[in-house]
Amino acid sequence: MGQVRWGLLSTANINRRVIPAIRQSARGELTAVASRSQESADSYAQHWDIPQTFASYEAMLASDAVDAVYISLPNHLHADWTIRALQAGKHVLCEKPFALTLADVDRMIAAAQETGLVLAEAFMYRHHPQMKLVEAFVRDGRLGDISLIQSVFNFQFKSRDNIRLIPEYGGGSLWDVGIYPVSFAQFVMGGPPDWVFGFQEKGDTGVDEFFAGQLHYGHGRVTQISSSFLTPYHTRSVVVGTKGRLRMSRPFTNVEESEMVFYPDSGEPEYVDIPEEPLYLGEIEDMHAAILDGRPTYLTLAETRNHIRTVLALYESAAAGKPVFL
Ligand SMILES: NC(=O)c1ccc[n+]([C@@H]2O[C@H](COP(=O)([O-])OP(=O)(O)OC[C@H]3O[C@@H](n4cnc5c(N)ncnc54)[C@H](OP(=O)(O)O)[C@@H]3O)[C@@H](O)[C@H]2O)c1
Repeated sequence: MGQVRWGLLSTANINRRVIPAIRQSARGELTAVASRSQESADSYAQHWDIPQTFASYEAMLASDAVDAVYISLPNHLHADWTIRALQAGKHVLCEKPFALTLADVDRMIAAAQETGLVLAEAFMYRHHPQMKLVEAFVRDGRLGDISLIQSVFNFQFKSRDNIRLIPEYGGGSLWDVGIYPVSFAQFVMGGPPDWVFGFQEKGDTGVDEFFAGQLHYGHGRVTQISSSFLTPYHTRSVVVGTKGRLRMSRPFTNVEESEMVFYPDSGEPEYVDIPEEPLYLGEIEDMHAAILDGRPTYLTLAETRNHIRTVLALYESAAAGKPVFL
């Protein structure tokens, strides 16, 4: 098998970013889309020029036409459809957040181990060259000892008719976008926090539309995160160390517009060139390397399990109004 034949499991909005990435990739082709109705699958396939359609997710999983599926369902459906896809013999790239409970994360990991198939969370920003630059700054010691990370991810909806506002679907700003700052902190700090403190403002549907969290890593190291559906699109991160700080204006999305600046403890700020690469290409190429070359995925399931654990602890803390130890 020299190519990976992809099937889209749903006609979700986010697919519009992943479809070009599959087509840009060296070893992937988009062969099918499944939707809950034939009509929707057909009109989607026509719009995106996809050769094969399925009128149910089950039908695509039962077919030999695809090797790997991209799961872009609402959050509460990720776990069950990932497991069903693995059991049907498909490799799986599942959207973030991977699952809403640790029990589900563990069931998904067990299914991948039992079937020997590739499973990864689709956290595209982790694969982008901007993050490789951050990794180099941290690894090379240019920032010194890191004491603080501050990250924000806010945006507003065009319409209130959105899966992100439905509590049973795993709605909420922390699950949706706050998880990026949580994952970024884990990447830079090298693991999950020891304890967290969370604060949430819920909206009329019962999900958090604003979340602020403080994550503690021992030795005075702290991360502050916030996420919101209440204010216009805004993202940023700053990583502060004993020898300087690194600031990014677009750490997670729209990275082609990102400005990355290193401020040393003395001297002029250094504007860092970020290599251009389509944001969603890395996660697709990484799946191909895992499926076709047997390489481990860059974003491991252990890392995924840890940021889900941290998000759950933040929600538990916000609900209880107390710190939660992991
Ligand atoms: N990595 C990223 O950059 C990124 C960005 C945005 C979203 N996401 C993630 O991608 C996932 C989808 O988000 P989205 O905004 O693209 O979602 P969306 O446009 O609302 O699409 C969700 C799709 O799921 C299917 N579906 C199955 N059961 C459903 C139900 N009960 N209610 C609604 N839809 C149902 C529908 O497809 P059919 O009608 O075809 O069956 C629908 O089109 C989420 O997990 C989100 O966190 C990731």
